[in-house]
This record gives sequence, structure tokens and C-alpha cells, in this order.
Amino acid sequence: MAVNVTQLKEKFAELFGPEGEPKAYFAPGRVNLIGEHTDYNGGHVFPCALTIGTYGIIRPRTDRTVRFYSLNFTNLGIVEISLDNLVPDEKDGWTNYPKGIMWTFEKRGYHIPAGADILICGDIPAGSGLSSSASLEVLTGLMLRDTFGFDISMVDLALIGQYSENNFNGMNCGIMDQFASAMGKKDCAIFLDTSNLNYEYAPVKLPDAKIVITNSKVKHSLVSSAYNDRRRESETALKDLQSVVDIKALGDLTEEQFEQYKDAVKDPVCQKRAKHAVYENQRTIHAVAALKKNDIDTFGKLINESHISLRDDYETSCAETDILAELAWSVPGVLGSRITGGGFGGCTVSIVKNESVDLFIRTLDKAYEEKTGNKAEFYVVDIGDGAHALD
Ligand code: GLA
Repeated sequence: MAVNVTQLKEKFAELFGPEGEPKAYFAPGRVNLIGEHTDYNGGHVFPCALTIGTYGIIRPRTDRTVRFYSLNFTNLGIVEISLDNLVPDEKDGWTNYPKGIMWTFEKRGYHIPAGADILICGDIPAGSGLSSSASLEVLTGLMLRDTFGFDISMVDLALIGQYSENNFNGMNCGIMDQFASAMGKKDCAIFLDTSNLNYEYAPVKLPDAKIVITNSKVKHSLVSSAYNDRRRESETALKDLQSVVDIKALGDLTEEQFEQYKDAVKDPVCQKRAKHAVYENQRTIHAVAALKKNDIDTFGKLINESHISLRDDYETSCAETDILAELAWSVPGVLGSRITGGGFGGCTVSIVKNESVDLFIRTLDKAYEEKTGNKAEFYVVDIGDGAHALD
């Protein structure tokens, strides 16, 4: 869906009145190329911002009321809340994300002086795992920062988003999604060390290939509780390992060290989780080194290995995303393909040679529907900039 900012402003005036000068903002969704479930294990990630994301129009008010409207959830109508009562409430639906950001601002001493009218419109496919919630969090933080003149860096806006999602919305996510949405850069992926937030932009120059996202269109239930389980299992493994080796996070270990110490992790499931976290971190480091040398074949092979590890050891893939990855591997000209994001449904990301993109889409479209009864969706994506003002 192409979002037109002039039309959004007209809609804003229709909903909230024509006065003043509402301002427009955008925060992107993300796709992670490699480095999955490493961001809460002190490892590396390699995501990039997309050109799809969430748009917002904001105008401050003079009282303590915030009025929200989303063109993606018109059934909820205008949701009205008070800055003096920022509590999660299921009936408020999607607005619990921006509310959480306001709550976090207050908690961090950024006192929001007045309410606002806010119109939201996103073009990230719902439930796709391309970080629509993180983009909404970063967007809200940016709109509040600019509207009320707070001095907050983009990295801090990402951290505020993560804190809010962990503590207001109950999802113990890492920093990757918010960081990518806040800090993305056109045509680059972000090589981020989540143990210290050091990062580097790596140009993704693929003159002969495209990044293709395939949406399985399935989202299995209990995703956030399954995600939180993985976090707990990783933490248990870390504690066990800390009894035999001096580390702060699973990302501190090399593969060799893991093999040397792994028996300290008593529970076999936790041991598999830790194996993924350690190997995936190392894979990400190798993959970025390969990409820098223009060795796209090695980059692609590591992407495939990432999928296998998420399927077998971390168990965050599912039948549908396994089918998509396996079909992709069978198409000539596919350099790599894997599930991307939190998992349990959502999307795969594939690196596909230019001349094979049509064949890729045709093959997966037909075979996926035959095998699952579902219709996949395909997006040939560009890498865009991080969150920014539009006027
Ligand atoms: C979700 C979380 C991220 C990250 C990924 C898995 O997208 O929000 O923090 O943990 O899953 O890599």
C-alpha cells in the first residue's frame, strides 16, 4: 500500500479539525538478514530498515488528552486516553504501544507537557514479523521528542521502545527491531553488537541479486509466550555455563569454547538453545566479513545454516516457514534463504539472483499453496533510512 502524506493530513483534519500545523513522521519496519535470537544473548545482529513502515501525523493539544486513530484499525475508532492514566488496557488495542512510550518517557523524567492528536497509518503487512510494533514505538518516540522539544538521541529512542515493549506490553524482546527502525540507513544493513551497542553500517551492494521477503501468512498463537520461553531457556543455559567459564553472555563464547563447556548445561533443550545462540553469533560475524569481501556465496550459505539452526536447535521455525525455505533452496539462483524475525510463522528472507526472481516467485507461490493451502505473499524490497520527519 502506498501511503500518501497529503491524504493522511486531509484525513487528520477531517478527524481532529483543520487548525494548526500537524507534522508528519515515518518509522520503518525491518528485515533481519542474519543474527536471529542473538540480541538478548549479547551477540551480533545484521538487520536493515525497509521502505515500508508506519506513518504518523501529530498535533499537540493544550490539555492532558491524547486522541489516537489508526487507518489500519478503523474498527476501534478514535481512542481517547489521558496522560495521567497511562496503563495497559486490552480494549485499547494497538494504542497500548504508543501509550507505553509515553509511560516510558515519564518514567525516564521526560515530562510530556500536553496531550496530542495522533493519526497512524502503516503499510507493513499485519502479523508478518517485519516489526510493525517496533516501528510504531520508534515513531511515537520521535513524534514526542520533536513535538515537545526533548533532547533524546535516536539510539535512546530505540532503547525507550524496547523498555516500553518489555515493561508495558509484556514482550521481552531484544533491541534489534527498535534499533533498526531508529538507526537504519539506505542501502546498508546494521552490524550491531548487542553487548555494547557498538554498530557499523555495511553497504549491501547486490548488483546481481535482490532481497525477497516471502510472507507465509501464518502466525501461530502464543508467539510472545514462546519467545519469552526461549529467553528463559537461554538464561538458564548461561547460568549453567557461568559455573565453569567466566562469561557475561552466550555471545562471549566461540564455537570451540561452547563445545568444551557445553556439558555444564544440564537440560538438553537449554543446551540446544545455547548452541544456536553461540553458533548464530559467530555465523553473523562471518557473514558480514564475507559480504564485505563481496563473497555473496558464503554469505548465502551462512543464511541457510541460520535457518537450519533455528529449525533444529532454537525451534522457532514452523512447518510453513520450513516449507518456504526448503522450496527456496531448490530454486536455481537462490543464494540463501531462512526464516527471519521472532519466528513461529511470519516471513522468510531470501537472496535471489536477478534473473531468478520470477522463477523463485512462481515456484514458491504454486508449491506453497499446494503443500499448505495458504497463499504466500512476496515483496522484493529496498533498504531504506531509519525514522525521520517528513516535513
Ligand atoms: C523479535 C524481537 C527481537 C529479536 C528477534 C529474533 O523480532 O523483537 O528483539 O530477538 O525476535 O532475532
